Amino acid sequence: MKDELLQIFPTPLLITKYEGSLVDELKHIDTLEWIEQKANGNFKSKDTYLLDYEQFKNIKNFIYESLNKFTKEVLMSDQRLVVTQCWLNKNPKGSKHHEHVHPNSIISGVFYFKQDPKLPPISFSKSIQHAMKLDPKKYNNLNSETFLLPCTDGELILFPSNLKHSVPVNMSEEPRISMSFNTFSVDTLGSEDSLTHLDIRRIMNEHN
Ligand SMILES: [Fe+2]
Repeated sequence: MKDELLQIFPTPLLITKYEGSLVDELKHIDTLEWIEQKANGNFKSKDTYLLDYEQFKNIKNFIYESLNKFTKEVLMSDQRLVVTQCWLNKNPKGSKHHEHVHPNSIISGVFYFKQDPKLPPISFSKSIQHAMKLDPKKYNNLNSETFLLPCTDGELILFPSNLKHSVPVNMSEEPRISMSFNTFSVDTLGSEDSLTHLDIRRIMNEHN
């Protein structure tokens, strides 16, 4: 019998590509108000519910199509996710963002409006780092603890919200512009059979 190498519990990360033009959206983005995040040198849009706006209608549809693919085809669930908060990030040359996760969310996403394809804009890390480690001669997805993902304009990255990630320093002369968002289920979570059922409507009715 031949050896067999299993990779159990891999982390799903879905990359989808928006094929439409982003010219109108970028024009609108130029008119928005920003708040500087002093510690990292980057900027966040003042408005954090951007999918409510007509100007992002096409992007909203694309995000929902991609989220449905993730829940139906990857997670194999009919439970529907909706975007809770959605904001823009502007990273001028030299700025970065510290390592973090997105609490109170199931799947998070980043959509790239403007991004240098040669410079990976996001780095993912393993939740549990090795306490003891050997010295790999070559890194692969079984012995690595961080993963730098190159992206191009119009790409959307969807990942579990508890996956640690950070934004490496932007070395490009051009500012990087991305849109981030979190999600939650509008349907009940879990199931009665597995004793994980979370039906928020039932709870609200009981306690109102
Ligand atoms: Fe993030």
